[in-house]
Amino acid sequence: MSPMPERSIIGNTLSQLTYGLYIVSSRDGEKLNGQIVNSVFQVTAEPPKVAISLHKNNLTHSYVGKSRIFSVSVLSQDTPMIDIGLFGFKCGRDVNKFAKIAHKFSDSCPIVTENALSVFACKVVSSLDIGTHTLFIGEVYDAETFKEGVPLTYEYYKIVKKGRTQKNATTYTEPKGV
Ligand SMILES: Cc1cc2nc3c(=O)[nH]c(=O)nc-3n(C[C@H](O)[C@H](O)[C@H](O)COP(=O)(O)O)c2cc1C
Repeated sequence: MSPMPERSIIGNTLSQLTYGLYIVSSRDGEKLNGQIVNSVFQVTAEPPKVAISLHKNNLTHSYVGKSRIFSVSVLSQDTPMIDIGLFGFKCGRDVNKFAKIAHKFSDSCPIVTENALSVFACKVVSSLDIGTHTLFIGEVYDAETFKEGVPLTYEYYKIVKKGRTQKNATTYTEPKGV
């Protein structure tokens, strides 16, 4: 391996990492919001903890930072693109994403149930400033499975659903020629 490969080589290599697609939700007082996140992964088993990486400009980042709670909805493979568009390309500062989407609460934590195979709710136990994003570590305090099904992966979203990434996503790279 060369000491510092070209950015395109780094990008090609990183594009082989695999992810799922999730909706992370949180609240600020009475206001509810959520966003699509691919960077969700379990980091410990006992007690169960997960990490999420949220862009600092996202409204959901501000809500998780304040409330110290978040939920993760594991999306089904047949999630309509219109719902991914709402949660992945629109900001809660411009639209009330929870107005027409089925949801419930675990304690005070909002949870999107529409298109979800399962959900879990977390209390933030640690966070790390990693530059453009913050890594929030949450301990899972509640979980529920709604139905059997195939979870939506990032690969299926890109290749079969022809979905795009978004500039605040952890995996975003400038399109070639821009
Ligand atoms: C496929 C896909 C994956 C994404 N992954 C992430 C991610 O891992 N972390 C992140 O902060 N934003 C991610 N985003 C971007 C947010 O979903 C997007 O910026 C959203 O509009 C933020 O909404 P908010 O401002 O209401 O919180 C992703 C978007 C898409 C479409």
